[in-house]
Amino acid sequence: MTTLAILTAAGSGTRLGRDLPKALVTLGGFPLVVHAARRLASSGVVDSLVVTCPAGLDAAVRDVVAQDPHVALPVRVVEGGATRQASVAAGLALAGPDDDVVLVHDAARPLAPPQLVRRVVEAVRAGHRAVVPGLPVTDTVKRVAAGPPAAGGLAVERVLETPDRALLRAVQTPQGFDRGLLVRAHAAGAARAGAEGLAATDDAGLVEALGETVHVVAGDAAALKITTERDLLVATLLLEEES
Ligand code: CTP
Ligand code: MG
Repeated sequence: MTTLAILTAAGSGTRLGRDLPKALVTLGGFPLVVHAARRLASSGVVDSLVVTCPAGLDAAVRDVVAQDPHVALPVRVVEGGATRQASVAAGLALAGPDDDVVLVHDAARPLAPPQLVRRVVEAVRAGHRAVVPGLPVTDTVKRVAAGPPAAGGLAVERVLETPDRALLRAVQTPQGFDRGLLVRAHAAGAARAGAEGLAATDDAGLVEALGETVHVVAGDAAALKITTERDLLVATLLLEEES
């Protein structure tokens, strides 16, 4: 029985605003997707890798990931779709019958440490069929609705409620699943995959939509998501600390 990791790297990185896809932007001299692949490989619990890539960049992504000496795993590259959900579905189509556990990880979280990868896989192999890493939330979070049009054009929203912060978790990747459950979740949610406004932002959300239980293990601050230039600066500091 084997563990397949789907590494999502097909996004454009609009919010980062560079002239190349976010996964190919470098951090300490190496593309984000290479950092993520290295840490998946060095966890020792991943058997093969499927990387989703932007249209037309198969060769470029294959070259940087498969030829990296620290990614000593079989690597396949597949063109992603219009949304993250569609990209994961494209990767999942390559899972084989021996891949009983499937991890889904974002190249946008390049520094997710090998211990975190092991923790997620261990929880799935212990019988939890859907596992996400999560961190306590430090901000107070409010649920809002569109507010009334404000005088002077100032945008305002109306607060609906303040959920108890102690019960909230900010979830990360890698997320780990029993393959059969993840395939069923993607099949059931397939109609959402075409449009960014409808698509699931994580795979556990699709499992929840089936009514199945998702479990949380401790996340790791190093698994922060790179969305903006500021995140890239923070990651640069974390990488320097690592060495
Ligand atoms: N992703 C993907 N296919 C898409 C969209 C996103 O594989 N159609 C991947 C990204 O490459 C990234 C992860 O999903 O690793 C999380 O997405 P996000 O952080 O939103 O990245 P981008 O979509 O690239 O960034 P932006 O939303 O700013 O354009
Ligand atoms: Mg995006």
